[in-house]
Amino acid sequence: MGTVSLAEIADVGRDRVRGGYSRHLFEPADLELREWFVDRAIRTGLDVETDRNGNLWAWWGEPGPDAVVTGSHLDSVPGGGAFDGPLGVVSALDAVARLKTSGFVPSRPVAVVVFAEEEGSRFGVACLGSRLLTGAIDPDAARRLTDTHGVTLAEAASAAGLDPAHLGPDPEALSRMGVFVELHVEQGRGLVDLGAPVGLASSILAHGRWRITVTGQGNHAGATTMAERRDPVVAAARTIVAVHDAALASPGSRATVGRIAVVPGGTNVIASSATAWLDARAATNASTLALVDDVRRRAEAAVADSGCTVTVVLESWSDLVEFDPALSAGLAGTLGGVPLLASGAGHDAGVLAARVPSAMLFVRNPTGVSHSPEEFAETADCAAGVDALERLLRSLL
Ligand code: GLV
Ligand code: MN
Ligand code: MN
Ligand code: MN
Repeated sequence: MGTVSLAEIADVGRDRVRGGYSRHLFEPADLELREWFVDRAIRTGLDVETDRNGNLWAWWGEPGPDAVVTGSHLDSVPGGGAFDGPLGVVSALDAVARLKTSGFVPSRPVAVVVFAEEEGSRFGVACLGSRLLTGAIDPDAARRLTDTHGVTLAEAASAAGLDPAHLGPDPEALSRMGVFVELHVEQGRGLVDLGAPVGLASSILAHGRWRITVTGQGNHAGATTMAERRDPVVAAARTIVAVHDAALASPGSRATVGRIAVVPGGTNVIASSATAWLDARAATNASTLALVDDVRRRAEAAVADSGCTVTVVLESWSDLVEFDPALSAGLAGTLGGVPLLASGAGHDAGVLAARVPSAMLFVRNPTGVSHSPEEFAETADCAAGVDALERLLRSLL
């Protein structure tokens, strides 16, 4: 069986332009990682199945009810790090391999899961695989999601061998999950500051994504005087500053525009529209929605004199998650009292938590940086993560 390690997939999906990794759902790098997972799981003595939504499940024992499930995702943000997602999958396979090698006999079925499109980098909705599984997204709306090339999720799923008509809630797969534990690299400095290699999650900020579209008048860059212009790029720039100001005015909240698109996008063309995608997060559902209301007001003021119009449309939403305190406290006790940390990042475990007792195990990230090639975890801390996960699985089995 051998130790399962991130080195096995280190060359898959490297992004030569942005640095780091770009591994997007059903694109070649993601397909290669999925093949790697199937092969690695089979070599670990597990039985692999793909569910109706493209999530992969590797079973130790008969798939059945009340299973202990662990895993994470293999896709990445554009130019992402090596750890966000894959560390949880590799550690899950390694912990299960170690249990098997030790002769441990589980009292419940065990599965390692890979959720599809956790980052939402291709189709725009984070945790797409777990949302589909749990019914947290309307399947018709999901089928219509479109990537930047105009390919719909239905088309991409079909090309990957899934039946798009079957995308959607999967009560059978869900009913097998007795408990879910997701190991993940920490994405901030919590464990660094506490001097601890591993910790457990207490909560996830409420968060969502909105599409801010500023519409103006496409025109000629040379023939149009400055006074005549209705330039949506200028109005969008003011709107982006307004997003930042709104978050600064709401202590503890976070608002980001990390992606913009200009149509049609020519150097000598005054654009006809500009879209900025907003990621907004805060401590409660209400404070996150209030932040976005403030963004909307500020955006309307920012474009008021530009001759442009602005719309702010919700693309996806995740409620505040408070992980089952009894489960997390019990698991923390099993590990001899590790810290509990709030997460600013979203995770499939957060989506699952609404339906299945769920917990998260974090591994220290010395850079405190994530969604960037600088994301890191020391080999010794990754090993501590696998040790901890193995102990948690033993305690749950
Ligand atoms: C996922 O990583 C997110 O929180 O954006
Ligand atoms: Mn991520
Ligand atoms: Mn992740
Ligand atoms: Mn995430």
